[in-house]
Parts: sequence; structure tokens; C-alpha cells
Amino acid sequence: MKITTTAGLDQKADVLVLGILDETKTLKNSVLQKDLEDALKEKVLHKEKFGEVFVTKNNGLPYHNVVFLALGKKKELTLEKVRRALGKAVKAVRTLRQPSFTTDILDLVKDQFDAEQLGTAAAESLLLANYSFIKYLSEERKEKITLLEMVSLQWSGNVAALGSGLKIGRVIGESSNFVRDLVNDSASVVNSVYMEKIAKQVAASSPKISMKVLGEAEMKKLGMGSLLGVNLGSANPPKLILLEYKGGSGKPVALVGKGITFDSGGYNLKPTKYIEDMKTDMAGSAAVLGTIKAAAQLGIKKNILGVMPMCENMVSSHAQRPGDIVKAYNGKTIEIGNTDAEGRLVLADAMAYADDKYNPEYMVTLATLTGACVVALGYYAAAVMGKDDRLISSLKEAGMNSGDRVWELPFYDEYQDWMNGSISDLNNISQKGKGYEAGSVTAGVFLSKFVEKAKWAHLDIAGSAYWCVDGDYLCKGATGSGVRVLLYYLMGK
Ligand code: BES
Ligand code: ZN
Ligand code: ZN
Repeated sequence: MKITTTAGLDQKADVLVLGILDETKTLKNSVLQKDLEDALKEKVLHKEKFGEVFVTKNNGLPYHNVVFLALGKKKELTLEKVRRALGKAVKAVRTLRQPSFTTDILDLVKDQFDAEQLGTAAAESLLLANYSFIKYLSEERKEKITLLEMVSLQWSGNVAALGSGLKIGRVIGESSNFVRDLVNDSASVVNSVYMEKIAKQVAASSPKISMKVLGEAEMKKLGMGSLLGVNLGSANPPKLILLEYKGGSGKPVALVGKGITFDSGGYNLKPTKYIEDMKTDMAGSAAVLGTIKAAAQLGIKKNILGVMPMCENMVSSHAQRPGDIVKAYNGKTIEIGNTDAEGRLVLADAMAYADDKYNPEYMVTLATLTGACVVALGYYAAAVMGKDDRLISSLKEAGMNSGDRVWELPFYDEYQDWMNGSISDLNNISQKGKGYEAGSVTAGVFLSKFVEKAKWAHLDIAGSAYWCVDGDYLCKGATGSGVRVLLYYLMGK
């Protein structure tokens, strides 16, 4: 999708989308003014109802359609609301089956935001809203889906500043969509070997990225029994993919993403309604890959280490059993209380190895780790936890600014021994109370035992990575959650 800026509205576009603020009294064009008055009088449009869309009758203007989009009170607008408004605009035009639109929305709010930030948010949402996962649709079905080719933004402010924001936003949007494609795809395609192939392509895209992959034999030698145990039932080989992005000097920020290409639950098999979406259990690793790819394109001036432990949690006569005891890279032994709590097991070795060998200053883990997180927060925030308050506040701020929100869960001292084992150092499920209390926090507590040196925080993206509902600029399915919060964090915005 091409995004252009023009001083006025672009008469060559197919659709005109006009933002209607609560304060809007008159429109320049008298025909549209009449349309607006009628729509308000007939109560088919409410200026105060943010996001309400009304398609006017065609009135001899050079557009196929004119759309009014209510924006509410100007003072109450935020960058996230701008994203949502543009997302609504994209979706309305896609529903009208037109390939392009022009809009005054950004220009209406230009005095309220920094032009570069506004451009970034705009491009992000335009690209995210113009996404559909169509890989497996027949030509006939594909034809029914309209993707926009061009959006023209009216802009009378600083063109260079908006333009530089649009460029940043395009990278963020495209890398999020790259992640969505990986997460939406079938687990029969996206296995560890496939992820290695895609990671190789990412590494080849920039001279600043280098890649190393540890295979089964090497991991055995290194004593990564925790990760290896999870993959025992799978026909696909386990892989620990490491990507180094060199954008600056100093210790790296390590990003460690859960990469379970399918989570059947193992012998603690998941039931119907829980197992179907488990191809998405590699969303953390995909978000790490997308972030590294974008970091290189954006030229982020930091060193970043991407760590992707790739495994598949399957059932077979070789698979790990409940009650098995494994030993992790850092020497800690773990009793497998439940084979479905596998994410923490693969992260454990990946974290301990990264902490030991790469000496990161910060480490952020990203994982579709717990069903408890979906219960607690639903889709619209990832959970964040850890012991480093500064890192957590930076991530919270990045979440707020990017719209890829994070919500802190308490990491109280009382929980810190809940994962201790009785015949092993640790158990992979909580050993206190009924076992399920504070399930996302106890999973985080388990992870914390595998990082010693780095300042660490953990993002549970179980709910935010994959939606069962449509949003304003996102849609059902994979969201690319993690990429936006991490990039805003790394860009320091
Ligand atoms: N991959 C799941 C968590 C999950 C659930 C992600 C729903 C996305 C949506 C994870 O491996 C898991 O099964 N966790 C268990 C842990 C339990 C056995 C302690 C859970 O949450 O039920
Ligand atoms: Zn599981
Ligand atoms: Zn899982």
C-alpha cells in the first residue's frame, strides 16, 4: 500500500473519508455540509461517538463514496485513537470495495501531536488494517477481499516530519504483518526448520545481523535437558536460533521468545476448545524475529540479541512423561508436573544460555505462556512482570505509546518459592495452594530462576497475540503483539 501526503484532499482517490469532530460545525463543501446536517438530524451519525462511520449518498463529487467518521472531542484524542480512526477508515473503504481513499483526519489533529509520532502511528494502523491472511484462499475467495493500494493523507504541517514518521510506521506495520503471517500459518508448515529458514532470510537482509543455530547434538552437549525434553515427542528437530543485531555499542538487550510450533499439551493433552489455536504458540519467537528485522530497517542504535527456542510439544512413545525429571543448562533440576507447562521449560534453557554466553544488560522474555493470562486480561494487554521496576516502567510506557499495551501483574515475594520442587530443585507447575492460583505470576517466577546477571522482565502475550474478535485496526487471528511494544521500547519512545 502506497501512502502519500498532499496539501489538499486528493481528487484522484476513490473514496473521501472526512473526520467529523464533535466541534465540527461546517464543511467547506456545501453539498457535503448538507449531507452532514441530514446525517446528524436523522441521527445516523453522532459526532460525539468516536469511531462511528456513515457512508453518504453519492453527491456528484469526484469520489465513488464519501465517508463521515466521527472523532468525538478534539481534546480527548490520543495517538491510539488516531490509529483506531484510520483503521476504521481502511476497513470502511475495504468494505466498499474501493482501492484507495483520501482523508483529512491527520490534518484535523495536527496541532495536538508531534508530526513524526503522528506519522508513525498513522502508517502503523493503515498497514495493520490493510492485512488479511489469504494464503490458503482460492482465487475466487481472494477476489472477494479488497486490499487498499493507496492512501492519500491531507497534510498542511511539516511534511518532512510526517514523512519520517510514516517511514518508521511502515517498518513497524510491515514487520507486525510479517509476524502475523507466521503465527496465522499452519503448524504443519511453520515448524522449527521453517522458522530457521525464515530467520536466515532475516539475517541475510542486513549486514548488521548474524545468526547461529544450535541443533540437538550441540544442545545435548551443553546440557539443555529442559528444552530437549519438550521436543522428545516431535518428528521435527529442536533448534535454538540466535540472532545478533549490532546497531550500537555496549551490552545487548536480549529478547527471548517462546517458539512452540504446536502445543498439543503432550501427555497432559489439551481438550477441544483449547488445542485448536495452539499453532500460535510460537508467537513470542515470531515477535522476536520481527523485532530484529525491523530494528535493522530502522537502524536502531543498540545491540540486540534475539533468542528463539523452537520446539514442538507432541505425544508419542518418545514423548516426555509427567513425573520425568530433567536438568537445565544452569544445572537446576525440574520435575515435570505437567507436560502442558512446556513454554517455561524451553525458555529456561534459552534464558540461562543467553545470560551466560552473551552477557546482556537487559533481557525481555515474550511468550504465549499461560491460559491464566487470557483469563485475567483478555486480548487487549500483555501481562508484564519481573523484579526490575525501571525496565517494567519502560515497557509499560512503550505499551501505552504503541497501543500494544502491557499491564503489570504483582511479582510479590510470597510467590517466589511456589515453584520449588520436593524431589527436584523446581517443578514446572506451582506447588502451593490448589496449584492454579496466580498462574501467570507463578510461570514468571519459574522463568526468573534462569536469569542471574541480566535485568529481566517477562511479557505474557497469550491473550494479545491472537484475537478471536475483530478490532479497529487489527482483526481476528494473529496481531503481531510484542513487535510494537518492543520497538517503541528499543526506540526509546
Ligand atoms: N500455550 C499454553 C498457554 C496458552 C493458553 C496460550 C491459551 C495461548 C492461549 C501453555 O503452554 C499452557 O498450556 N499453559 C498451561 C500451564 C498450566 C499447565 C500450569 C495453562 O495455562 O493451562
Ligand atoms: Zn502448554
Ligand atoms: Zn504452550
